Amino acid sequence: MASSTLAFLLLLCYLGLVFKITMGAAPRKPIDVPFQKNYVPTWAFDHIKYINGGNEVQLYLDKNTGTGFQSSGSYLFGHFSMQMKLVPGDSAGTVTAFYLSSQNSEHDEIDFEFLGNRTGQPYILQTNVFTGGKGDREQRIYLWFDPTKDYHSYSVLWNLYQIVFFVDEVPIRVFKNCKDVGVRFPFDQPMKIYSSLWNGDDWATRGGLEKTDWSKAPFIASYRSFHIDGCEASVEAKFCATQGMRWWDQKEFQDLDGAQYRSLSWVRDKYTIYNYCTDRSRYSSVPPECARDRDL
Ligand SMILES: *[C@@H]1O[C@H](CO)[C@@H](O)[C@H](O)[C@H]1NC(C)=O
Repeated sequence: MASSTLAFLLLLCYLGLVFKITMGAAPRKPIDVPFQKNYVPTWAFDHIKYINGGNEVQLYLDKNTGTGFQSSGSYLFGHFSMQMKLVPGDSAGTVTAFYLSSQNSEHDEIDFEFLGNRTGQPYILQTNVFTGGKGDREQRIYLWFDPTKDYHSYSVLWNLYQIVFFVDEVPIRVFKNCKDVGVRFPFDQPMKIYSSLWNGDDWATRGGLEKTDWSKAPFIASYRSFHIDGCEASVEAKFCATQGMRWWDQKEFQDLDGAQYRSLSWVRDKYTIYNYCTDRSRYSSVPPECARDRDL
């Protein structure tokens, strides 16, 4: 009797675990692939250094130029991640970006921008979402670690229901599909993935007060694990041929789960510097997507 009760409890516990696991919405674990598998340089080819057969890549910024790279393919939906180690030491004035963007005039864009700082002062991570050419949705946070010490992963999950920005496993921002309340959502314009390192000292650090110290050049940002798991589509495509069938389309990726919402509010409470959602001097009424995103 006692042992069958125990077995029953164990079964419940097991089911509980399985249930939790299948409810969890962490994207699939990225696979480390070399740069050449998914990316090509965009400009200033001589400012990109390939290490270990392209498993690691470094971007150089000096007084002459920054540099950047982009995905060879264009994608409609998926999971896009990159491990990055940002410019160490005095990085004031430098901007390192990782973003998805479509190529047309009313473009969609999903941005991570890392704003450098003087030695020992914290980076700012600014994110933004453009839909149909309209941006002005900046959020700024401090990170809970030093992004120049080790590699960390930065990723975007994009499906028809939501766009989630992750830092490591932590969702730092979600932009839900709010088409029903008149907010455009990226769904029919394939995007490429881009990264670049450039001089933004007219605005990046303390609003442009801190200038790039060129005596510290070259500034170097490092990258690895060039994972792309998306629906590849031609630039003109209007839909993804396998839509609805891929893992990121499934129920558990259509919303954050409870634990993820708790992580998101932890970031909101502890690390937010700026959120357009709460900027009443800029937007007198709450932008519709903000209420939906539980961003307030
Ligand atoms: C740089 O450091 C200053 C002083 O700690 C801080 O106010 C600022 O937010 C930091 N980051 C940037 C990118 O300006």
